Amino acid sequence: MKVVVTRAIFPGVVELLGRRFEVDHNVEDRPWAADEMARRLSGASGVMSTVMDRIDEPVIAQCPGLRVISNIAVGYNNIDVAACTKRGIRVTNTPGVLDDTTADLTWALLMAAARRIAEGDAYVRRGDWKVAFTMQAFLGQDVHRATLGILGMGRIGQAVARRARGFDMKILYFNRTRLAASEEEKLGVQYAPRDELLAQSDFVVVMAPYSPATHHMIGAAEIAKMKPTAILVNSARGGIVDDAALVAALAEKRIAGAGIDVFEGEPQLNPGYLGLPNVVLTPHVGSASRNTRLRMCETAAANMTAVLEGREPPNPVN
Ligand code: DGY
Repeated sequence: MKVVVTRAIFPGVVELLGRRFEVDHNVEDRPWAADEMARRLSGASGVMSTVMDRIDEPVIAQCPGLRVISNIAVGYNNIDVAACTKRGIRVTNTPGVLDDTTADLTWALLMAAARRIAEGDAYVRRGDWKVAFTMQAFLGQDVHRATLGILGMGRIGQAVARRARGFDMKILYFNRTRLAASEEEKLGVQYAPRDELLAQSDFVVVMAPYSPATHHMIGAAEIAKMKPTAILVNSARGGIVDDAALVAALAEKRIAGAGIDVFEGEPQLNPGYLGLPNVVLTPHVGSASRNTRLRMCETAAANMTAVLEGREPPNPVN
């Protein structure tokens, strides 16, 4: 049985797959366009894909033998799940294993933007640091005892909230479904309507999955509701924040700063970001620790193997 791994992953995982399947592994790690994807997947029973691989109806229509698409990610907005379901193709993801690592990166962005870390680093490297101490240089925002607003209170949102308690923060959250009172109490979070959260938070963290409903959930109107001292962090998905609106707001200092890991149309990002000192930019690395990426690959391999061996996968999406 043939399986495809669309991008270069850990050799040990490929080796394990190789004991059961004939593996087409994209060791070259060059992203495939739709026609190449369809060509490589035709004749395959399973595929392990990444968030950047678009697998839509026109691709799967050319792959009649495909039984499972195992995304090596918690998000799966790169896959047309409805089309897969219609054709009896299982879709799986890797929830759970990346929550803490993504929450850590979210905090890294929050702290970096609050304390202007990237700006200070660039200043030192440029050789601009000539006067040893300046009372009002690089003044940032305090994180401790500030108000954190989390938009989307799934597993990663909750991991972000748990970290905030060490900073004695007031934590507001907005979610489609409100948590049980006992959960709110355990996490020390308070539910707030979205506009209230935007208006009250010193730090707004976007933690929702991408879907047509969350497309541009944060645009000019929402940014206008935020404090001028506020910082926005998005490590969830590109497209949830309207990049053009955020670039304009940062350029006009309508909010103080941002930390952004995910972009609309990445890796092509809005060029306006590049000239702005008040935004920290990272290249979609929320889950990028060695351990976590390995666990994601192992989880995806286990999901794919389960389906191909006729078992229920541990992490079904459909
Ligand atoms: C995910 O898991 O959805 C991330 O964006 C990829 O690490």
